[in-house]
Amino acid sequence: MKRVLSGIQPTSESFHLGNYLGAVKQWVDLQKGHETYYAIVDLHALTGDVDPKLLRARTLASAAQLIAVGIDTEKSALFVQSHLPEHNQLGWIMECVASFGEASRMTQFKDKSSKGGADGARVGLFTYPMLQAADILLYQADLVPVGEDQRQHIEITRDLANRFNTRYGQVFTLPDAYILKEGAKIYDLQEPTNKMSKSASSASGVIELMDPPDVNLKKFKSAVTDTGKEVVFDEKNKPGISNLLTIHSAISGVKIKELENEFAGKGYGDFKMAVAEVVVEHLKPIREKALGLLEDETELIKILHDGASRAKVTANKTLTQTYKALGLVL
Ligand code: TRP
Repeated sequence: MKRVLSGIQPTSESFHLGNYLGAVKQWVDLQKGHETYYAIVDLHALTGDVDPKLLRARTLASAAQLIAVGIDTEKSALFVQSHLPEHNQLGWIMECVASFGEASRMTQFKDKSSKGGADGARVGLFTYPMLQAADILLYQADLVPVGEDQRQHIEITRDLANRFNTRYGQVFTLPDAYILKEGAKIYDLQEPTNKMSKSASSASGVIELMDPPDVNLKKFKSAVTDTGKEVVFDEKNKPGISNLLTIHSAISGVKIKELENEFAGKGYGDFKMAVAEVVVEHLKPIREKALGLLEDETELIKILHDGASRAKVTANKTLTQTYKALGLVL
């Protein structure tokens, strides 16, 4: 069985519909036929400013939502990155394999550090990709489901693994990026040419999983539509309607073509209501389940500890092989 590993930063108390349909749903689907490891990468979140109370709340909220959307903690090892010191241990080794030059060329580092200036950017932002490489390589992952923006981080992971294997002997599996399908890209309801994102200028175009149903219903009702009146998929001329079609189809499983037929002759208003209902009904039980899990933190943390102890078996094995290959005395 192929191994899958992915990580998500606990950057918000609620996933939005874009995270859910883009990334998290694929995590759920990949559980079938794969050995899956999913990490809430709290150490990566420390590369930015974060309030400790919020970090804690977001870590638990992420776990609760992952379980609520269908990560089966019997099947998958769902864990918090900081519960496993092996990530830091292999992270250091990867820092000693990576060159200063290649780390400096990472576009995410360049983008983020250019905003805050040299004194604003943490060293952890610079070493971020080496910690991410460790996340992946510890589990000998074959596949890493990520968004397009993470392609370069998977590339450097492969380079580091390959360099290590060549220098010190075969230890690491070279992972492949499993890039999320274009169709799973969800746009902002108010600015349908921008990706749905937590950094949107206004919250009114972003559907949050943890928001109450009436809040989300309202957001769909006021979603931007386009000129004309036909419900047809045309990303160029009808980005708003196309986005709503994508959302409906992703959740209902009904093909876009069929949706176009179903809504032929009906107005945008009817269509928006239908999308709203499909989404809101789908999210209701998810939100309720997540809220239920968050009610008992002790139990939720126990589930995460259990995931960590299962992940540890694999992580430990890899770390031991790595140390041996390097000549570290065990
Ligand atoms: N850098 C990833 C992101 O921002 C998060 C991440 C950390 C990750 N470690 C990972 C993703 C390992 C996949 C595998 O989305």
